[in-house]
Amino acid sequence: MNAILEIKGLKKQFGGVAALSGIDLSIEEGEILGIVGPNGSGKTTLFNVITGVHKPTEGHVSWRGRDITSLAAHEVSGAGIGYTFQQAMAFPGLSVRENVQIACEHARRTSRPYPWTTPSALLDFVGLTALSNEQAGILPFGSLRLLGIALALATRPSLILLDEPAAGLNDRETATLVGLVKQFPGYGISVCVIDHDMKLMQMLCKRLVVLDFGSKIADGPTQAVLTDPKVLEVYLGGAL
Ligand SMILES: Nc1ncnc2c1ncn2[C@@H]1O[C@H](COP(=O)(O)OP(=O)(O)O)[C@@H](O)[C@H]1O
Ligand SMILES: [Mg+2]
Repeated sequence: MNAILEIKGLKKQFGGVAALSGIDLSIEEGEILGIVGPNGSGKTTLFNVITGVHKPTEGHVSWRGRDITSLAAHEVSGAGIGYTFQQAMAFPGLSVRENVQIACEHARRTSRPYPWTTPSALLDFVGLTALSNEQAGILPFGSLRLLGIALALATRPSLILLDEPAAGLNDRETATLVGLVKQFPGYGISVCVIDHDMKLMQMLCKRLVVLDFGSKIADGPTQAVLTDPKVLEVYLGGAL
């Protein structure tokens, strides 16, 4: 296996709160890695530190062998790490197509061929062609999520971080999302996804990492992790 992202000893302190207390983690080229853990366990903070939204208190993030710990968010995106936020975001007053157009204008240069070079191709891939002229701010929630995916893909990432992409989606929308995300590795895009929906995680991920109070308590094949007594204890039978 070939790690594209390597995290060593990552700590993030918010005042008295240790949101991350020494995380080691690697993401392999071409995999879909899942991150789960109770609310407040540090999942979103981990993404925020990887993407340069927050600076870590200690530790390092390296991307294809290059230390990116101190890069600003736009530099991390420029290096090829895309991000969809837990709160779906777009320019609400602009149309769906205009949002994608703006994102495409900020696409980084890549040496490899990219499958979606135009806004139309991206809209088609995520299934939003029929809604291209709608105002983004009045989209139904599921469509707004798909727009978020299109916006992240527009920057031409080779790793995409998805923070609770299925939150608020119905079963049909979730199935659409799974169908899209499963295709990413085939297009040279590795994935790291956070979600609470264990059915979704089992469909998407061969490997799961579990965080609890800012520490990694499990990391391994999905089924093994989901039956690990340490993990079951954290969830007290609830989400599993
Ligand atoms: N910007 C912030 N300022 C202060 N505390 C924060 C901030 N972001 C997260 N936290 C705290 O860090 C902990 C981890 O939060 P978070 O990473 O959002 O967890 P998760 O995504 O797993 O639910 C929580 O205790 C949360 O309150
Ligand atoms: Mg979160």
